Amino acid sequence: MCEQPELLEQMKEGGTVWDTMADEVIRWATPATYFRRTATQDYDLHGKTIRKGDKVLYWFASGNRDENYFDEPNRVNLMRSPNKHLAFGLGGPHLCLGMWLARLEVTVLFQELSKRIVGITADGPQHHARKVPSAFQNQRQ
Ligand code: HEM
Repeated sequence: MCEQPELLEQMKEGGTVWDTMADEVIRWATPATYFRRTATQDYDLHGKTIRKGDKVLYWFASGNRDENYFDEPNRVNLMRSPNKHLAFGLGGPHLCLGMWLARLEVTVLFQELSKRIVGITADGPQHHARKVPSAFQNQRQ
């Protein structure tokens, strides 16, 4: 919001932005960066063979910034649609069961925040915020 001041204006205008903004915020943030699976059979993927029993990490954080898939992936576009991001998993039986609650919480947070503030500025460079020491969680302390 500090780097893209138009986001706060769009939230203040409201309307249909609330239908799409939570997924875009969650795509951009990708709070859970990866998950792991164990291959149950050999599988060829882009010229590499994954062997049965191999542990495989799939990086939501990478897929969610894939420029072959998302237009300007490093920018927040609150109206992005469609927005088939991976932040809640890849689908299938382990899809995030809390995604509807998470979307609602993010929407309400930004609805209430955007009502109360007139602007937002950084008090230092972004890298001054300490990242939680975890490759799995993309969060700042
Ligand atoms: C923005 C917030 C959230 C994010 C980014 C997130 C992300 C994820 C991801 C990536 C997975 C793993 C999917 C996979 O294995 O492929 C997952 C699973 C899960 N999430 Fe979330 N989650 C969020 C919020 C929540 C909330 C609020 C709840 C509960 C109220 C929740 C409950 C679960 C459960 C129960 C699973 C396991 C599903 C299973 O293995 O069958 N999540 N979530």
